Amino acid sequence: MTDVQDVRRMDAQDTLAPFRDRFALPEGVIYLDGNSLGALPRATAARVADTVTSEWGRGLIGSWNDADWIGAPQRIGGKIAGLLGAEPHEIVVADSTSVNLFKLLHAAIGARPGRTVILTEPGNFPTDLYVAQGVAAMIPGASVRTVAREDIVAAIDDHVAVVMLTHVHYKTGAMFDMPAMTRAAQAEGALMLWDLSHSAGAVPIDLNAAGADLAIGCGYKYLNGGPGAPAFLYVADRHQAELRSPLTGWMGHAAPFDFGDDYAAGAGVNRFLCGTPPVIGMAALEVGVDLMLEADRTALFAKSRALCDLFVDLVESQCAGLGLTLASPRDARVRGSHVSFAHDHGYPVMQALIARGVVGDFRAPDILRFGFTPLYVGYEDVWRAVEVLRDVLASESWDAPEFHARSAVT
Ligand SMILES: Cc1ncc(COP(=O)(O)O)c(C=O)c1O
Repeated sequence: MTDVQDVRRMDAQDTLAPFRDRFALPEGVIYLDGNSLGALPRATAARVADTVTSEWGRGLIGSWNDADWIGAPQRIGGKIAGLLGAEPHEIVVADSTSVNLFKLLHAAIGARPGRTVILTEPGNFPTDLYVAQGVAAMIPGASVRTVAREDIVAAIDDHVAVVMLTHVHYKTGAMFDMPAMTRAAQAEGALMLWDLSHSAGAVPIDLNAAGADLAIGCGYKYLNGGPGAPAFLYVADRHQAELRSPLTGWMGHAAPFDFGDDYAAGAGVNRFLCGTPPVIGMAALEVGVDLMLEADRTALFAKSRALCDLFVDLVESQCAGLGLTLASPRDARVRGSHVSFAHDHGYPVMQALIARGVVGDFRAPDILRFGFTPLYVGYEDVWRAVEVLRDVLASESWDAPEFHARSAVT
């Protein structure tokens, strides 16, 4: 049995422990929601202030060149590429995850003439399903087919233009085998599109080693880019010349500052840019990405697995008989960096935990979700979180009226 001395020893030996001080986390909070909104890096406030007061305030319009605002999509994309096993020219930062998904899904169908199906799984993140439905509605004959994850490979046929999956499932944390699924899609002539929102900075990813075609992901979870941070998109080099963005804005033009009347797609992945980059958000994102690049990723992913395993073990031993059912894979090799438990009263239980400083989140209908971000969560945090969880459940303190009132964001 793991005891508190053990977890303290683990923290003392943790080579990533110093990173915790690089985040401005409030005292007394055990933050287990970095899979939803990453914590604030200490350097972000100063960097954003400098972008506003110096680059914008004094540099004014000149900062597009002098502070290289204009190069931010490619510059930060190149850094994210370093985290994801891609070449710098294969990733740009732009727009939101949803918008990037729209652009790449639409382009994928266009690149597979005669094929009309977007294949995905039921229960995928809602925006993925909704955007796919929207894309299908725009293209004559196109449709979305949803198939249970274990049947996806068998369902890929010559009608499928693109297989669209979230690599690490937002609710359960279950992780697909990226190389195997990518090969299965490509073997049938389809393109494979990965949503990496819960993967980037959370699990090892090597897009090019996996032979990936297309990917998207967000900047505000494990990349710690801040609420509503700009998102990224990846197009493998070999597809860049053939794919066409449906959002033909001027930033995706071959020569935006020629101000010509006719659209001409920009070179490579640049054509998937659309409008003016959100410079302040880009500045915050770059701080988060730079911080992630500083960390030893082998240690990072090993710690992620160890934290999740510890949490599962402690919950199952300390909270046995208290109504929790593991809703995530037990095997760390097929799991992301968050762990979910189902509970009949998940919503008020999570509110009661948050009131006690253990911040996770709730996903309807009954999922308590806990994210373990190795840069700022320690082993003793896991221990303490489970103690609070056991207390909340055993005492039924969650059954107070204030914990039942639903907020807009859960
Ligand atoms: C898998 C996945 N895709 C997409 C999104 C969100 O998309 P957007 O950033 O456009 O809101 C989320 C948000 O949690 C997500 O979990």
